[in-house]
Amino acid sequence: MHIILLGPPGSGKGTQAKKISKEYGFIQLSTGDILRASFKSDSNFSKKHKSTVDGGSLVSDELVIRIVEDRIFKEDCSAGYMLDGFPRNLLQAKKLDNMLLNRNQYIDMVLLFNVSDNNVVRRLAGRRFHEKSGRSYHLEFNPPKSEGRDDLTGESLIQRADDKEAVVQSRLKIYHDQTKPLINYYAEKGMLQKIECIGNPAQVFSEIKNIIDK
Ligand code: AP5
Ligand code: MG
Repeated sequence: MHIILLGPPGSGKGTQAKKISKEYGFIQLSTGDILRASFKSDSNFSKKHKSTVDGGSLVSDELVIRIVEDRIFKEDCSAGYMLDGFPRNLLQAKKLDNMLLNRNQYIDMVLLFNVSDNNVVRRLAGRRFHEKSGRSYHLEFNPPKSEGRDDLTGESLIQRADDKEAVVQSRLKIYHDQTKPLINYYAEKGMLQKIECIGNPAQVFSEIKNIIDK
C-alpha cells in the first residue's frame, strides 16, 4: 500500500508513521528526516540546505523530488511505503503523479492530519529528540522518564532548531499558503481520508487503522 501523510508541521505524521510501520511493515519515507540525516557532513551542500531547513523554509522542489525518486522504487519499498512530508506543493504532487505513472504505481490513499494551529504550536514547543536514534518525546504529552534524558541511553535530548516558536509560525504560514491546496487536489481525485487528531497518539492510530483495514 502507498500512502501520503499530509498535514501541518507537528500534526503527528512522524509519530503515526512509526506506528503504521510497526503494524503493517510499510516503510516511512520522511523527506525531512532524510534531509536532516544528510546534514551530518560539513560540505557546502550540507551548510546551504541546513540553514534553509533550520529557518523553516522549503528546500528546492528538484532536491526533494530527486530524494523521493531515488528511494520509492527501491526493493524494500515493495512492501508498501508512506510519504511523510512530501508532496508539499502542487508542483511536487504533479511530479509525483508522473513518476508513479511511468512505473505503473499509484497512491492508495492520502491521510489528512487535521490539527489546529494552536495545537501545532503546543506540540512543537514541547517536542524533544534523542539525536542519534531519532526517538521523539514531548515534555507534556510523552515525557521521558528522567527530565531531559533519553529513556534507553540516558543521553541528553535536543530541540530541533525549526521548533523555536518564531520558526514554527513561518512553517505554519508555508503550510497554509503552499501545502493546503493539496487537500482539494487529492479530494477531487477521491483519495482523501480525514483524520481528526484530537485524541492521544493511540486513539489517532486506531482511527487510522480502521481506515487502512477497510
Ligand atoms: P519535516 O521534518 O517534514 O517537518 P514537518 O512537516 O514540519 O513535520 P514535523 O516533523 O515537525 O511534525 P510531525 O507531523 O512529524 O509531528 P510529530 O509526529 O513529530 O520537514 C522539515 C523541513 O524539511 C521543512 O521545513 C523543509 O525545510 C524541509 N522539507 C521536508 N520535506 C520537504 C519538501 N517536500 N519540500 C521542500 N522542503 C521540504 O509530532 C509532534 C509532537 O507532537 C511530538 O512531540 C509528539 O510527541 C507530539 N504528538 C504527536 N501526536 C500527538 C497527539 N495525538 N497528542 C499529543 N501530542 C502528540
Ligand atoms: Mg516529522
